[in-house]
Formats: sequence, C-alpha cells, structure tokens
Amino acid sequence: MASFGRSLSELQLTGVKPLSNQPSFEQYIAEVGDKVTSALSDIIPSQWDVPTTLKESMTYSLLAGGKKLRPLLVIAACEALGGNKEAALEAACSVEMVHTYSLIHDDLPAMDNDDYRRGKLTNHKIYGEAMAILAGDGLLTHAFYMLVKISRKHGIPADQVLSIVEDLSEMSGPRGMVGGQVADMQGEQGLTDLSQLEYIHLHKTSDLIIFSLLAGGRIAGADEAKLEALRLFGHHIGLAFQIQDDILDLIGDESKLGKKVQSDVKQEKVTYPYFIGLDASKEQVEQLTNQAKKTISEAGFDNPQRLLEIADYLMNRDH
Ligand code: IPE
Ligand code: IPE
Ligand code: MG
Ligand code: MG
Ligand code: MG
Repeated sequence: MASFGRSLSELQLTGVKPLSNQPSFEQYIAEVGDKVTSALSDIIPSQWDVPTTLKESMTYSLLAGGKKLRPLLVIAACEALGGNKEAALEAACSVEMVHTYSLIHDDLPAMDNDDYRRGKLTNHKIYGEAMAILAGDGLLTHAFYMLVKISRKHGIPADQVLSIVEDLSEMSGPRGMVGGQVADMQGEQGLTDLSQLEYIHLHKTSDLIIFSLLAGGRIAGADEAKLEALRLFGHHIGLAFQIQDDILDLIGDESKLGKKVQSDVKQEKVTYPYFIGLDASKEQVEQLTNQAKKTISEAGFDNPQRLLEIADYLMNRDH
C-alpha cells in the first residue's frame, strides 16, 4: 500500500495538445494542485484556539493527496471567463474541504467501511471514529467560512457570494450530496433500478462537481446562459466521473487509486457495471464526455480549453 495515491499531475496525458505559449495541461494541473495544497496547509487561522487533535485530524485527510479535481474545476471555470483567480482559490479550498469531509464519512464503518484513502489509512483508523466524525463536521462548517472570504477579502459582490453559499448548502446537503449518499446506502441489488442509480450518482458525486464549476463562473460574473452551460457540463462529467469510479473499483490498480478495489462488490452495491456491464459503462463515460465537451464548446466562453482538457483527462483517468 505504501506507493499509492498519485497526484493528478503525475498522469500521463495522451492526445491533448498544449496551447501555444501556455503551460501544458500537465504543468497547469501541477501548478493549481500546488497552490491549493499550500492554501489548505494553513486553513485554520493561527490565532484560533482549536483542539490540537481536531486540527491534526482535519489536516491529515485534507493534505493526504488526492487529485484536487474540484478545486481545478473552480479555477478552470473562473479562468475560462476571465475571473479573479485569487478569489477562486478560496472557493477551491472550500469545496475540497467539503469533498474531504464526505470521504472521511464515506469510509466510516457505518458507511463503506474502508481502511485506505488517498494512499493512507483512513481518518478513523488513525484518530478513531468519534474524531473522524468531528473532523468531517469541522471541515464542512469551516468551508463556509472560506466562502465568505471571497467577498470580505477579494471584493466579489456580496450577492454573487450569497449565490455561491446558497449553491454549496444545496448541493452538499439533503438535496445534493448527502441525499445521494443516503440513496447510495439504501440502494439494493435486485430492488434499485438504473434510474435510481442515476439519481445516486448525480447527487453523491455530480453535485459537488457542478457546484465547483458554478462557483468559478459566479466569481467571474457569468450570465445565466453561461452558468447553465457550466451546470450541464458538470452534470455530464460528474456522471461520467462516478461511472469511471465504479469501473475502477472493479478493474483499477490499488497502488494508483490509493484505495482498495472491489469495495462495491464486497458491499453488494448497485453500480453502472453491475447494471450494464463494463463495456457499456465505458461507452457511457465516452458519450457523456463528448456531450459535456459539446456543451462547453458551443457556449461562447473566452477560453474553454482547460475545461475541455479536464473532460478528456477524466475520461482516460486510471486513478
Ligand atoms: C472519490 O473522489 C469519491 C467520489 C466522488 C467518486 P475523487 O476520486 O475525486 O477522490 P480524490 O479527491 O482524488 O481523493
Ligand atoms: C463516494 O462514492 C461519494 C462521496 C464520498 C460523496 P464512493 O463510495 O463510490 O467513493 P469511493 O469509491 O469510496 O471513493
Ligand atoms: Mg460510498
Ligand atoms: Mg466509498
Ligand atoms: Mg467508489
């Protein structure tokens, strides 16, 4: 298990042409990943009196690695529309905190009961279940503090930040990721059908991906039509992302994924490969990616290239 958990930047990319006079996609994601990691490494203000173990447990998972996909989407969407990158970095940290909390809770014995995440022992294996639950709670609530800074520190109009706060509470909450996780827990082979699985995937996974894109768009002052394009793009790449996660759970390499494979099989989960088989699942990923790219290509963004590259990367990812 020691070598697991590669970062997005270690990826071998194929078929993506670098933009002239611009960093390659590989360099771009490495740079974004470094900026986000550095911003996350000191998330709790030093003057705050916070129990040491809580701080350690929160940062243990937050800085364990991971692809930083959601931060990348916030920043790429903001850049695609010429927005303020520093403000986008706050939203990027915020969604990474919510995502990390969801992973800590997802791995708990009461949920998926997994022992490895991002190439390391899961949070509860190190700090115990009570601290893991509270570290998740801490990350979720502190994420909203980060969002407020978009206005307080970077001067983005409060009304835009209000929409971002509204989106995050909706898309991470009962109508979003939490609802999806509940439906996932309640899913049963033989009872759940494919349309219910789509609900699970759209909410447990796509919603935070959609949030990330919208947040980047809102910071850049996107109009309704552009926000709608980002929403649709996120809907499609989010669903493709979770189908690929299901595929990798079956045929992926633990040392690359940083988590155990066959977790879904062990727990008799409903997944895309369970319903339609591996080949049709791979075709779905490709079709959804193409639809996503078409949406963005036709939406009139100043610089959609990074978003298109991200869609391609996700389709071909092995971790
Ligand atoms: C894992 O997400 C959980 C899902 C929603 C499929 P990621 O695959 O983005 O996990 P990290 O952030 O790279 O660890
Ligand atoms: C997790 O889905 C989704 C969330 C954490 C919201 P999975 O349970 O499939 O994710 P992995 O495979 O454990 O990363
Ligand atoms: Mg799960
Ligand atoms: Mg899981
Ligand atoms: Mg999975």
